[in-house]
Amino acid sequence: MVFIKTEDEIEILKKSNMLVSETHAMLTKEIREGISTIMLDKLAEEFIRDNGGIPGFLNYKGYPNTLCVSINDVVVHGIPGKQTLKNGDIVSIDCGVIFNGYYGDSCYTFEIGNVDPSIKELVKNTKECLYKGIEKAVEGNYLGDIGFEIQKHAENCGYSVVRELVGHGIGKNLHEDPEIPNYGKKGRGLKLKEGMVFAIEPMINLGKKEIYQENDGWTIKTKDGKPSAHFEHSVVVRKNKVEILSDFSIIEKNIK
Ligand code: MF3
Ligand code: CO
Repeated sequence: MVFIKTEDEIEILKKSNMLVSETHAMLTKEIREGISTIMLDKLAEEFIRDNGGIPGFLNYKGYPNTLCVSINDVVVHGIPGKQTLKNGDIVSIDCGVIFNGYYGDSCYTFEIGNVDPSIKELVKNTKECLYKGIEKAVEGNYLGDIGFEIQKHAENCGYSVVRELVGHGIGKNLHEDPEIPNYGKKGRGLKLKEGMVFAIEPMINLGKKEIYQENDGWTIKTKDGKPSAHFEHSVVVRKNKVEILSDFSIIEKNIK
């Protein structure tokens, strides 16, 4: 069942999602060659708790940490650990919080030092895919319109769209109906109504779309070993223009 949120609920969801973006903005100052992914996780957990939130992924279906930190060929759900960031890596940092009973969920892919130009393009175009999908989240459009735009841009660039992992409704639960695929056909699926709140999250591979899960039960990697990028915003469907609840501008003003 797809919930329609009240304006009061949306106000709280705005706060939850801004706490996620503020966490990203804080991490931006720490993300550099040599830092371990577990250190980023500790900083994020402390920051979220200091600001009155609860880490949203920690213990979710048994997930062990606050962040998912996914480097290069890790698509999503990379578990923080002793591994350090290296020059030339791309790293997606997916973060969720619970604030006043409502979830925030957003992901940003960062570049470490000198990244290969073709991989920089992948990152830039994946962010564009997200915004092209988001633009379609207005009342009267269809769910398939979102995936169609994402897939079209990704495939025009020569990339591939991960099929097994999708965006989702978000609210009192991290994952609510509907599922939001990053591929699809115009005019198909659920008709969108004002007050629906979605986490839209394209995962785009430089090479082929196939993925596999590691033995840790979480880490998802590309089969061909090529890099993958991931951006996610939580958004409200509105009548004429979508409202984005998370905010990349506060992250990007901290990127040197
Ligand atoms: N943004 C991801 C999602 O919405 C992260 C979930 S990680 C988990 O599915 F650990 F919470 F499962
Ligand atoms: Co999500």
